[in-house]
Amino acid sequence: MSTIRNRYAVFGNPIAHSRSPLIHTKFASDTGQVIEYGSQLIHVEKFSASVDEFFHNGGHGLNVTVPFKLEASSYVDQRTQRAFLAGSVNTLWRNEKGVTYGDNTDGIGLLNDLKHNLGWRLKGLRILVLGAGGAVRGLLGPLLLEKPDTVVVVNRSVVKAQKLIPIFSMLGPITVCSYEGLEGHSFDLVINGTSASLTGQKLSLPRDILAEESYCYDMMYSKKPTEFMRWGAALGAKTSDGLGMLVEQAAESFFLWRDVRPLTKSVIEAVRDML
Ligand code: ATR
Repeated sequence: MSTIRNRYAVFGNPIAHSRSPLIHTKFASDTGQVIEYGSQLIHVEKFSASVDEFFHNGGHGLNVTVPFKLEASSYVDQRTQRAFLAGSVNTLWRNEKGVTYGDNTDGIGLLNDLKHNLGWRLKGLRILVLGAGGAVRGLLGPLLLEKPDTVVVVNRSVVKAQKLIPIFSMLGPITVCSYEGLEGHSFDLVINGTSASLTGQKLSLPRDILAEESYCYDMMYSKKPTEFMRWGAALGAKTSDGLGMLVEQAAESFFLWRDVRPLTKSVIEAVRDML
């Protein structure tokens, strides 16, 4: 086996909390790949220069996290269709001709967690998505491709949610609603893509929006169940946080770079143990 270690990194600000080095190092050892994966704190005004430097010095692939995903999307020469729809990029690589590519693996990571880890079937479901920010935009394309019965996006700022409609309506049935407008409607799956869980804020959701045998998925993760998960569990829903999504989006990046798909179960468990 070659001892040359291909170099990868995650760029963000802040970055100390990032689990990506742990996850990718474990993927590499599990699949027999020889890589080195670090994390770099990037000055908010030096993103482009730092990416240039990384690739110039022989870097192979990059992950990008808050607050650089939009800037990464403008930086790359070519975006995949899902990065284009998401409007942001979390995975970059450069080919031997110097062309830099960008993809967004967040949405497919969530979908893989829902379908393969949790076994939640999505076809024909009535799905409610909470929030209309960058996290939700990344998710809508892959979600609509699963052929749900309907996807309703609810946001405090309805105008912001409405801007998503022309981008995604050609992919499937998507509508927008205010929180007040949810009264009287019910859903099989509710996905929390707001940042409310970060601050422990409670969302004002009518209790009758959950159908029987419904699912609640929080894109955030934490040591203890989030406020949103506790709300769903109290109403009898199956719940999950977004730790599986974190590992699955990384697995998709690893696959793009290495053409090898790592197994994720033990990695999800390892990251959970470290929370
Ligand atoms: P991200 O990139 O993580 O999605 P963002 O673009 O800042 O972050 O979006 C945050 C989302 O969480 C928005 O949809 C925001 O709603 P508004 O657009 O109406 O502000 C939503 N959000 C944050 N805190 C919320 C709360 N307490 N209740 C409901 N929605 C909330």
